[in-house]
Amino acid sequence: MKIVEVIADRNYQVVIGGNGLSEIKRISSEHRKVLIIAPSSLLKLSKIKESGNISIFVAPEGESQKSLKVLERVWKKCASVGLERTDAIVGVGGGATTDLAGFAASTWLRGIDWYAIPTSLAGMVDAAIGGKTGLNASGGKNLIGAFYSPRKVLIDIDFLRTLPHRDLNAGMAEVIKCGFISDYKILNLVQDDVLDFEQLIHRSVKVKAKVVGKDFKENKLREVLNYGHTLGHAIEKDSKYRLRHGEAVSIGMIFAAELSKDLVDLDVDVVDLHRTLSINFKLPVSYPKGRLKYLMNLLVQDKKVKSGKLRFIGISKIGKPVWLEDVSSRTISRVYERICK
Ligand SMILES: NC(=O)c1ccc[n+]([C@@H]2O[C@H](COP(=O)([O-])OP(=O)(O)OC[C@H]3O[C@@H](n4cnc5c(N)ncnc54)[C@H](O)[C@@H]3O)[C@@H](O)[C@H]2O)c1
Repeated sequence: MKIVEVIADRNYQVVIGGNGLSEIKRISSEHRKVLIIAPSSLLKLSKIKESGNISIFVAPEGESQKSLKVLERVWKKCASVGLERTDAIVGVGGGATTDLAGFAASTWLRGIDWYAIPTSLAGMVDAAIGGKTGLNASGGKNLIGAFYSPRKVLIDIDFLRTLPHRDLNAGMAEVIKCGFISDYKILNLVQDDVLDFEQLIHRSVKVKAKVVGKDFKENKLREVLNYGHTLGHAIEKDSKYRLRHGEAVSIGMIFAAELSKDLVDLDVDVVDLHRTLSINFKLPVSYPKGRLKYLMNLLVQDKKVKSGKLRFIGISKIGKPVWLEDVSSRTISRVYERICK
């Protein structure tokens, strides 16, 4: 078992390698009442049942649970169960579920305790870490939300056994990102014949925890976690979410690396390593040529755009993120040529 301490609005531990069911038992012994939020697929897989002081809210699958309508149903459940200030919510599922659970906890009675038990790789290394919680609004993804840290994040690696390969590979994109922005050892570990998930998750969580500990509310430093995400988000949206987040980030990282080669002399071998690792995990490495003009429209809506100027996170070498400010559309078009099909 490995533990990472996160310092944020409240300090908490990420425990890697525990058993999900026994953790729920322990949480229920520490609170008068506990409400578990999980999609039905995960409830079946994890054999979690209502008993004693544990109630369950069955969430819809995937992104559809991150809506105000579902949140309202969660609030109704909180009321019917009689959740009080000292009670707790536990989110068991992928990133969508822990985003919903955390936001529900932040809003019920002005904030009650919550715990995250992420079951997807993307959830374990990214979504459940760092205290960002939220829902989608009609105007866009993750527009509603709160920075609200959990009491604990409990990672049971056994959940990965049932995760579809495509989702596992998509989660690897975030692991690889942590390697490029901070921890080169991750980039060696992901090339092993047999992957040591406990170590990969531990190292990735440490990268995120370190950044979040210094910049919880994303004033600047936390932006480094968005390596590959500026173009990645635009691609994800342009693909109408047919591409998984991690798949879009894979293309976005290759673009960011190519951009870094031109603007801050990133070594060509490091750029090539991006492609090699993505291909190893069956992640996409290119996007259609004709989509650039649509992507440009989406890029200007990115959170990191300041005064209309396009900004990207790049790396000058492995472990050295840099801010690429005011990148011209000419540069973007030129670099896009190298990642399009
Ligand atoms: N809060 C943050 O900082 C943050 C960061 C990154 C992503 N996110 C959010 O996370 C979400 C993406 O996360 P995701 O990829 O986990 O998606 P997800 O939660 O939609 O899960 C994908 C699918 O996998 C299923 N699943 C999860 N674990 C499983 C398991 N062990 N076995 C079998 N099936 C399993 C889920 O039920 C779902 O159908 C997005 O909504 C994104 O916005 C949040």
